Amino acid sequence: MKNLTHKGVEDIVPYPPGKPINELEREMGIKDSIKLASNENPLGPSPMAVRAIIDNAHELHRYPDGNGYYLRSKLSQKLGVPFDQIILGNGSNELIELLTRTFLSAGEHVVQAYPTFLVYEKMVKAAGASITSVPLSNFRIDLRSIIKAVTPATKIVFINNPNNPTGSALSNKEMNEFLREIPDDIIVALDEAYIEFATDKDVANGLSLLNKHPLLFVLRTFSKLYGLAGLRIGYGFGSKILIEYMNRVRQPFNANTLAQAAATAALDDDDFVDKTLKTVRDGIDYLYRALNEMRIEYVPTQTNFFLIKIPQAGRRIYDLMLKEGVIVRSMDSFGLPDYIRINAGLSGENERFINTLKKVLEKQASI
Ligand SMILES: Cc1ncc(COP(=O)(O)O)c(C=O)c1O
Repeated sequence: MKNLTHKGVEDIVPYPPGKPINELEREMGIKDSIKLASNENPLGPSPMAVRAIIDNAHELHRYPDGNGYYLRSKLSQKLGVPFDQIILGNGSNELIELLTRTFLSAGEHVVQAYPTFLVYEKMVKAAGASITSVPLSNFRIDLRSIIKAVTPATKIVFINNPNNPTGSALSNKEMNEFLREIPDDIIVALDEAYIEFATDKDVANGLSLLNKHPLLFVLRTFSKLYGLAGLRIGYGFGSKILIEYMNRVRQPFNANTLAQAAATAALDDDDFVDKTLKTVRDGIDYLYRALNEMRIEYVPTQTNFFLIKIPQAGRRIYDLMLKEGVIVRSMDSFGLPDYIRINAGLSGENERFINTLKKVLEKQASI
């Protein structure tokens, strides 16, 4: 019998999504649980986006604008990037896939840091290409070692800045040096899903790197800052030639009507953006203070989430917290079994997380 698929797909481990709240409550027979596991916006979706969804619902008998005219125009205006250097995706996840589908052939090679966002490796393997994962150095992406891992077969390098799951970020200087050194014929995919949360002014920003490398592709999303994860809308910008090829492969209606309308409206929702950034920053400050008092180590972040080192196996604490209705992310699938990852929630959620962690750790210590 023929092989059903190729070795790359055989090797893929299914993505472990954070448990949806209703699934958890059903399984555990509990109510009022909180989820701090998927780096979502705790305030809900942008209200201006919600209004745009309602206003545009009567257009659903029509196919979406396959050119994404209004959203791309607005992004072009806001970012100062030419219209034809912007592409939309069904979440930035789709753009990761579109990039690998457009440019990678079987036998070619990709470099990424490890641990990082799990979807890059999945898509590379699905394309039949190979991947080298370069370990982080002290929780930071090691750009020197990434350059050393480049071979003549290397086609794409994925850099996630700030990096998920560590929250650490590369500086403008570091990224400039990297782009100077990396060969011109390698595509640099710079995933900035969390860039808007960075507080350090030195953190690299794809917008200022655009003309520093001939094959740069920057990915961003409406899922986090704008609270639209369930709608699936992201965008990419970068070298014109990359966007041109990706548009050949792209499904014509990949960004749906409501997603385009909502994202366009969200870009004007300054109040919501300010409120989100304040909620996240206040939340992270509170969580740092509480963990310091508990003498629990964590990895300082430039995003809306961070890693916490747990005195016992992270997976065990994850299970115990789940029973208490607090959903966090265990890090075994990222190769960090002693850690859990949480995102900043509302203040009451953050307090409940800390109180539950105390309770669970005390219970464990007394066993
Ligand atoms: C680093 C990173 N990139 C991309 C994504 C995907 O975002 P989207 O919802 O736009 O597909 C995520 C989602 O968690 C992420 O953490």
